[in-house]
Amino acid sequence: MTTNIRTIERDAEGRVVMLDQRRLPFEEVYVTLSTVQEVADAIRDMVIRGAPAIGVAAAMGLALGARQLPAADFDAGFVVHCNIMAASRPTAVNLFWAIERMKGIAALHKGDARLDALDREAALVYEEDLATNRAMGRNGAVLVPDGARVLTHCNTGSLATAGYGTALGVIRAAVEAGKRVAVFADETRPYLQGSRLTAWECVKEGIDVTILADSAAGHVISRGGIDLAIVGADRIAANGDTANKIGTYTVATLCARHGVPFYVAAPTSTIDLSLASGAEIPIEDRGPDEVTGVFGKPIAPVGVKALNPAFDVTPAELIAAIVTERGVARAPYGESLAALCR
Ligand code: MRU
Repeated sequence: MTTNIRTIERDAEGRVVMLDQRRLPFEEVYVTLSTVQEVADAIRDMVIRGAPAIGVAAAMGLALGARQLPAADFDAGFVVHCNIMAASRPTAVNLFWAIERMKGIAALHKGDARLDALDREAALVYEEDLATNRAMGRNGAVLVPDGARVLTHCNTGSLATAGYGTALGVIRAAVEAGKRVAVFADETRPYLQGSRLTAWECVKEGIDVTILADSAAGHVISRGGIDLAIVGADRIAANGDTANKIGTYTVATLCARHGVPFYVAAPTSTIDLSLASGAEIPIEDRGPDEVTGVFGKPIAPVGVKALNPAFDVTPAELIAAIVTERGVARAPYGESLAALCR
């Protein structure tokens, strides 16, 4: 099974073309972005989302913007572009990882060679992410028994990456290996990445999927309806504490209560060894509108206050294993993650 979902690419003029994820599952519409600011806005507004996909978008946006900078003012202009990109979303460390990669390449070259090198690096970030996801899938598929009922949260598939996916990539790989897998996708309020995006990908690609309200997960798990849970990550601290979509901590806690293994799948680019624990991970607050409304329609009284933290942190002790492209890490994560990142 190969994924045929095109999440992001560059056109012949180097512009960045993205599938507009805000309009899924109703419409498959692509937007074409012509400046760094437009790409940063698209990340902030969730035209594209998912930690690895955000990293790819940032790399492509910086390569695009570099060609628009005056040669005489390149260095200062490139720093401004990197800062614009870095201000788009705070939690997914892949954004900052990609910016640092592009800065490193810009520092190595001059003139036209620098522009070409930045284009090549952006293409490499994309290609590497695809290969990484496939390797992660192979490493993680062994954790998924034949016949497994697998709970997942948010969207971690082709839409959240260059293609194939992280946690959903592990599920894809298990299906490719001939295992029967039933996916249970939390709808993932407030932005509905589960019901809008994960369900769309699975239906499109023939993976058995059932959506459920986030609040139904506890009941389903308590009745023995789930064999394992697997989710992605936006940032993993050195001790294994993992920031992922809001509601992930709830799923992990429920799994621990009922003896269901809870796994994380993420590329090593999502591991941030500079942070000792999850308490240091910046958590994006997206403001009240996504909670008080759905698809622009109000679902709450006008003027009501609403909280909208976009991510939460699952303590490492609740995580049975972290699947990466380089292997599967288990507790104590301080040691196993450092060894994988060496
Ligand atoms: O706010 P989003 O949709 O960007 O959040 C995405 C997630 O939390 C994903 O689970 C995470 O980035 C892993 S995606 C492969």
